[in-house]
Amino acid sequence: MESPFKADILKGKVALLTGGGSGIGYEISTQLGKHGASIAIMGRRKNVLDSAVSALRSLGIQAVGLEGDVRNQDDAVRVLESTIKHFGKLDILVNAAAGNFLVPAEDLSPNGFRTVIDIDSVGTFTMCHEALKYLKRGGPGQDSSRGGIIINISATLHYTATWYQIHVSAAKAAVDSITRSLALEWGTDYDIRVNGIAPGPIEDTAGVSKLAPDDMLKEMEQNVPLYKMGEKWDIAMAALYLVSDAGKYINGTTLVVDGGLWLSRPRH
Ligand code: HXC
Repeated sequence: MESPFKADILKGKVALLTGGGSGIGYEISTQLGKHGASIAIMGRRKNVLDSAVSALRSLGIQAVGLEGDVRNQDDAVRVLESTIKHFGKLDILVNAAAGNFLVPAEDLSPNGFRTVIDIDSVGTFTMCHEALKYLKRGGPGQDSSRGGIIINISATLHYTATWYQIHVSAAKAAVDSITRSLALEWGTDYDIRVNGIAPGPIEDTAGVSKLAPDDMLKEMEQNVPLYKMGEKWDIAMAALYLVSDAGKYINGTTLVVDGGLWLSRPRH
C-alpha cells in the first residue's frame, strides 16, 4: 500500500534499528528509508543482515548492517560508533529486537525468564543509554535546538494477562516504563522524544507464527473489532508518524496498533 506521507519527510535523517533486519523491524527500516532516512540495522545473524541490506539498497536506500547482540553492552557501543562512522550522526533509534517463545510459567526456568528480560528490557535500556550522547540536542551532527527520537517496540500482552507469556509480558511492561521514564528525563533535559508502539497480531511475523497456532488465530479474528490481522505496514506507518514532525508533541506514550483487539471480549 502506498504511504500517505511525503517521500522526503525524513530526508537527511539517520536511523538505527535493532532487530531491523527481519519482521516488523525490517518493515520499519524500509519505510523510514523510503521516506529519506539512512538506515543502520543491528542484529545477531549476519545472513539476515546481509539480505536485508541488499534489499534496502535495491530500493535506493542507504543502508548498512551491523552485527551485534543488544544483551552485550560492548556490542551496543560498537554498533553506535559504526553508525556514526558511516552516516555522521544519529537521529532515530528504534528498539525492535525481541525474544519470545510460548511456555507455561511452571515450565519456564528462571534463566529463560531472564533471557527475555535481558533482550527486551535490559537491551532496550542499554541501547538508549549508549545512544544518548549522539541523540541529545547539540550532539554530533545534531542541531543545537532539537534532540533525537527513540521508539521502543512493545506489546499489549501485559495490559491484561496472556497465557504462556509471563516472561514477555513482564519484559514489555518494563519497556513501557522505560519509555515513560526516559521521556520525562531526556525530554526535559535533552529534547529527546521517547515513545513506544504496541503492535497487535501482525501477519507474516515470528510473533504470530511462533505464538499463535491456526485455531487460535481463527478465534481471534472473530474478536478483532476491525476483523483482520494487522500488516507490518501498519506498524511502520505508526513509526513514521511518531518520528515525523506530525508527532512533535508526542512524548512518553505507547501507541497501540492492534485494531482494538486488546479491548475486545467474546460477543457472548
Ligand atoms: C522454554 C526456553 C525456550 C522455549 C529458550 N528457553 N527457548 N524455555 N521454552 N521454547 C530457555 C532456555 O531453556 C534457557 O534456559 C534460556 O531460555 C536461554 O536459552 P538459549 O537458547 O540459550 O538463549 P538464546 O540462544 O539466547 O535465545 C533466546 C531466545 C531468542 C529468546 C530463544 O533466541 C529468540 O527468541 N529468538 C527469536 C526471536 C523472535 O522470535 N523474535 C520475535 C519476537 S515476537 P535454561 O534454564 O535452560 O538455561 C514478539 C511479539 C510479542 O516479541 C507480542 C506478540 C503479540
